[in-house]
Amino acid sequence: LRDKYLTLINDAGDEAALEELRVQAVGKKGEISLQMRSLGKMSPEERQVAGPALNALKDEINAALAAKKSALADAALDARLATEWLDVTLPARPQRQGSIHPISQVTEEVSAIFADMGFAVAEGPQIDTDWYVFDALNIPSHHPARAEMDTFYMSRAEGDDRAPHILRTHTSPVQIRSMEKQGAPIRIIAPGRVYRADYDQTHTPMFHQVEGLCIGKDVSMANLKWCLEEFVKAFFEVDHVELRFRASHFPFTEPSAEVDIQCSWENGVLKVGEGDDWMEILGSGMVHPKVLENAGVDPKEYQGFAFGIGIDRLAMLKYGIPDLRAFFDSDLRWLKHYGFTP
Ligand code: PHE
Repeated sequence: LRDKYLTLINDAGDEAALEELRVQAVGKKGEISLQMRSLGKMSPEERQVAGPALNALKDEINAALAAKKSALADAALDARLATEWLDVTLPARPQRQGSIHPISQVTEEVSAIFADMGFAVAEGPQIDTDWYVFDALNIPSHHPARAEMDTFYMSRAEGDDRAPHILRTHTSPVQIRSMEKQGAPIRIIAPGRVYRADYDQTHTPMFHQVEGLCIGKDVSMANLKWCLEEFVKAFFEVDHVELRFRASHFPFTEPSAEVDIQCSWENGVLKVGEGDDWMEILGSGMVHPKVLENAGVDPKEYQGFAFGIGIDRLAMLKYGIPDLRAFFDSDLRWLKHYGFTP
């Protein structure tokens, strides 16, 4: 019996076979257990010999089972280690790496430059109400500026005749939201996406602006001009760039100025600071008293300037990209060429 089981245990191929053997030998109805039960029918002399022998056999079988079980587990682990090994010295497979989109890069650069001038970054929703996008900014519903903005309107459910939400046409609503939240004095920029139904070489229906707002007790147009000049010099990394301030009109600023940057477009190549072309990059002015009032700031106590810069235009100028639409074509070859390594 002993040899039979020790051989069987030794030859068992896996844990299931081993368990079967255990039941067969020392389980409740196992061969050894049954023999132990028959001890009762023996004479005391026989029992004295057979009893210890059977107990020793049972212990030996149990020990052999345990030893084989751990040997099987070791073998299984060895087998796994043999198949799942990894050579950490192999050269890595080349990975396709993404890049930072020029618009994201420029947004970062612009934010960093204005941060140095003490502007905090503010945010607002891209889907907004006509109060924030127009009315609060002194553009009432009959005002021609609304029609000129090529606004995208969200549709309402049938029967819901509240005024529709709109895709913001500029970042100026963030002026109102920021002043409502933190009052004056305030110095913020608000970069983000804006939307207008317009499409050609220098217009896409979604584009990017960065709003600037600086309100204090004695903030003036001269401060605006200085800020913008410092910004343009820092952004284009030059000591001098020609800027053209053109008198303009925005309902939310008075007086207002549009600012152009000197550039040339020779053979489809765009260059900043030379030639006799101009590219408009921003609108600006002194915040209209009504706008301050609409945002809960007292215009008798506070005044200041605001500007809205076209981020996409800045990127075109800085990287000599003549067609704005390329930014949003998602052409991987283009993105690889103009993208920035993270
Ligand atoms: N919101 C204006 C536009 O989109 C730009 C602007 C911002 C003008 C702030 C003046 C002050 O054209």
